Amino acid sequence: MKIELAPLNQGEYLIQVLPYLLKWYKDYDYLLFDDFYPTEVEAYTQAIVEDLLELGPYAWIIEVEEEPAGFLYLNEWYGSGMKHHSCQIHAIIDKQFHRQGVGTAVGDLILSLLFEQLSLFRVEGWLDPENKAMIYLAKKMGFKFEGNARGRKLVNGKPRNELMFGLIRPDYFRRKKPQMRTHHEPQEEKQRERSTCTPSTTATCQ
Ligand SMILES: CC(C)(COP(=O)(O)OP(=O)(O)OC[C@H]1O[C@@H](n2cnc3c(N)ncnc32)[C@H](O)[C@@H]1OP(=O)(O)O)[C@@H](O)C(=O)NCCC(=O)NCCS
Repeated sequence: MKIELAPLNQGEYLIQVLPYLLKWYKDYDYLLFDDFYPTEVEAYTQAIVEDLLELGPYAWIIEVEEEPAGFLYLNEWYGSGMKHHSCQIHAIIDKQFHRQGVGTAVGDLILSLLFEQLSLFRVEGWLDPENKAMIYLAKKMGFKFEGNARGRKLVNGKPRNELMFGLIRPDYFRRKKPQMRTHHEPQEEKQRERSTCTPSTTATCQ
């Protein structure tokens, strides 16, 4: 199965895949919207487009065999343009592609990009306590539960808790298979000059 991350930072492509994005936002409105997001279709469509374009090179469509199958974006960058230290990760996969290994493959791709190409120290995700699938996947990728933020979000007039999961650089490299570790030992990594590159336009995982 060929899985690619197609950058969303080009207006034309974004317009082309907008119907998919609107479907995914509708399917997962309880995860993606809160009480401060516009409710009118036109207003939230515009807000989605603006939000995604604002992410620059850090938003992608997940393509499976060249078919849009979900999206992924990174935000809340901490550090500077010269040295990224941490960011947050968000991903949605279309229901028809669930439980076929897409989430795991995309997780591997993006974590490799963040830790091995961009040399980040930390990646984090805020998860809904009911989101069993994502909690399972986060733990599988090596993320650790770091805390329950009570009432962090307001949804339908009710405060909702969110769970913080974090993955740090030493844990990422410890989890990698031994032959990879010889090339990317944390100690070795410390010596490497921090990368300032932007993500490759396409990542492929077979
Ligand atoms: C979470 C999500 C990304 C997982 O994607 P996926 O493509 O189904 O993941 P995979 O097929 O790689 O499965 C990874 C593991 O999770 C398990 N899993 C998947 N869905 C599960 C569920 N509903 N409950 C329990 N485990 C689940 C799989 O069995 C698999 O386990 P294994 O590796 O031990 O065999 C997907 O369910 C999704 O997009 N959910 C909605 C969006 C979301 O929650 N986003 C996060 C907040 S921004």
